[in-house]
Amino acid sequence: MTMQAEKTTMVPGSEIGGRNDTAVSEGLIGALAGTYQLITKTHLCHWNITGTQFHAVHEMTATFYQNKFAAADDLAERVRALGRPVTLDLTDAPRWNGPAPQDAGAPAGKMIGDLVHDHHQFATCLRELVETAEHARDPATADLATERVAFHEKAAWMLGALIA
Ligand SMILES: [Fe+2]
Repeated sequence: MTMQAEKTTMVPGSEIGGRNDTAVSEGLIGALAGTYQLITKTHLCHWNITGTQFHAVHEMTATFYQNKFAAADDLAERVRALGRPVTLDLTDAPRWNGPAPQDAGAPAGKMIGDLVHDHHQFATCLRELVETAEHARDPATADLATERVAFHEKAAWMLGALIA
């Protein structure tokens, strides 16, 4: 009976390698929420962009939201690998307030510029997750977060180049 109670209240695997994974898991869940926020905003740009940049932006944003969608799965599965349940509340990205809402009728330059800003901001948050994971001696999460930093910085550069 006691064992059963423990099974429902303890989080299996929360002490992988003898460390406490709470901060890492929370950081991953924040990264997951932020990734979905950016998927949504990227999609809105993909759909609503107009003007001479349409084709380039439409194609580029398609590759970006596909990358983010795959990354969301990796982030969530890393949470599970740490023994934590995955929760997803898109208003709950604790390390990031999330992107400002996208005006569907905004000029292309504004839409792209907003995304550049968002990718930079999110990369900064993900760098914090790298530090948190390194501090927790969790190289797998640090590697995943590092990969995401690289992606978001590259996306910011590529989008920024369109409006330079
Ligand atoms: Fe599409």
